[in-house]
Amino acid sequence: MKEDIKEILFSEEEIKNRVKIVGKKISEDYKGKFPLLVCILRGAFMFLADLVREIEIPMSVDFMAISSYGGRTESTGQVKILKDLDTPIKGRHVLIVEDIVDTGLTMDAVTRLLGTRKPASLKIATLLDKVERRKIPVKVDYYGFRVPNEFVVGYGLDYEEKYRNLPFIGILKEEIYKGKE
Ligand code: PRP
Repeated sequence: MKEDIKEILFSEEEIKNRVKIVGKKISEDYKGKFPLLVCILRGAFMFLADLVREIEIPMSVDFMAISSYGGRTESTGQVKILKDLDTPIKGRHVLIVEDIVDTGLTMDAVTRLLGTRKPASLKIATLLDKVERRKIPVKVDYYGFRVPNEFVVGYGLDYEEKYRNLPFIGILKEEIYKGKE
């Protein structure tokens, strides 16, 4: 797997340190609020697992499965809900946990949908923010790192379901996906 990576952007240790800082900030901001962290599957599973261990206040988790890419490197603009929340969120402080905000289409659709359910508050925490690709403005409340417009994989992020288990985040070599888009 590692031979398919052009460059490591964030090492395991850099990610750990940054996640710790984000977790601490969330702990302070949500003190006494019993937030519900909503993990957007599948990419955010690793970030969520590490993030919750850095949160020092009572909280709960739930999961939503969204699909927008259909195995390709470009967003189709179509957001499909594959699994909805099991938890009612009316009156709850909801924090959406994402691995990456790219065009913003997914977060726009998810925040619109969850907003209709009248949560007490609704915020976004993303590990990666690819600001220059934005098609729709999205308010990112917490982020781990800003990333350049490169195809990044690892630490939950995939290309055709591969590379999610890499403990670091790296840029995928172009030859792996070129001609397949
Ligand atoms: C990825 C990522 C975000 C979305 C971001 O999900 O996890 O949910 O794309 O892109 P956008 O800002 O352009 O909408 P993907 O559909 O690849 O599914 P996955 O999480 O299962 O990998």
